[in-house]
Amino acid sequence: MKKIAVFTSGGDSPGMNACIRAVVRTAIFHNIEVMGIKHGYDGLIRNEFVALDAQSVANIIQRGGTFLKTARSKEFLTIEGRKKALNNLIKHNIDGIVAIGGDGTFKGALEFAEICKIPMVGCPGTIDNDLVGTDFTIGYDTAINTVVEAVDKIRDTAESHDRLFFVEVMGRDAGLIALRSGIGIGAESILMPETKTDVEDLIQRLASGRKSKSSKIVIVAEGEEAGGAFAIAEQVKKRLPDYDTRVTVLGHIQRGGNPTAMDRVNSSRMGFAAVEALIAGKSGEMIGVVDKKIVYTAFQNAVKHRQGLDKDLVRMLEILSL
Ligand code: F6P
Repeated sequence: MKKIAVFTSGGDSPGMNACIRAVVRTAIFHNIEVMGIKHGYDGLIRNEFVALDAQSVANIIQRGGTFLKTARSKEFLTIEGRKKALNNLIKHNIDGIVAIGGDGTFKGALEFAEICKIPMVGCPGTIDNDLVGTDFTIGYDTAINTVVEAVDKIRDTAESHDRLFFVEVMGRDAGLIALRSGIGIGAESILMPETKTDVEDLIQRLASGRKSKSSKIVIVAEGEEAGGAFAIAEQVKKRLPDYDTRVTVLGHIQRGGNPTAMDRVNSSRMGFAAVEALIAGKSGEMIGVVDKKIVYTAFQNAVKHRQGLDKDLVRMLEILSL
């Protein structure tokens, strides 16, 4: 292996920069040249290759976002796009690829593998934590800390006004951000697509809950099947008109910010392991950290998300909340 390429793809997540830095410096340590590809698969198609050296990744471990930039590529979904991408990799004499991204990225990698025989490994970069084969994806810890910090502030004002807040958090069709952040802020209830919300049950819980706190916070995962935070708040308001109800959608603040120490360390470990995996001859596998150990999961298994929610956490939540 003489020359590898690295790119970030899909939604950005805090810790991607730390991961790129680890890839670049590990490769250089092993006398392997590194090219960065800007804008993910789009940049691969448009030939946006840049040479990276140890210095080009200095002072980025602490930064959110991705300095290589990212995209959700429509063109890569076409065979013509994938052929252009392959030609560019051949043109640059790339012997191995590290893709940092989420399920869309690895689904793209699986399609690409049908025509591209250059080894590719992946690092799980998404705030959603919706991949199989790692306890925490890159950015998940930072995102839940961002949510906790924001909702603590909402709690102050909610408590002052005796209000009921519905706070919508990200996670596309997974409730993992909602679950952990909701436990962290002492939510009165957490609505997640995996647990099939019964709005009637929520209304009963809110009506009969503990009275010691004058505020109530319900965390709603954006992919909630019963609707988003606004839709659920509307239904509840009709039935519990005495509640002074507000809705906050946290949105993209959850994707930015400096990565937590945990994200920086995990991202570094995964980037480091990705290069060593390529050297060891691996391909088509995602690097993860499970029980503090590096593990490898085939892309086709990594994307079968719906890891499901941790049943012990859900049970504990039932007891500790309302
Ligand atoms: O996949 C990460 C994620 O942040 C999801 O939680 C969210 O649904 C989506 O990306 C938003 O994507 P966009 O960048 O297109 O707004």
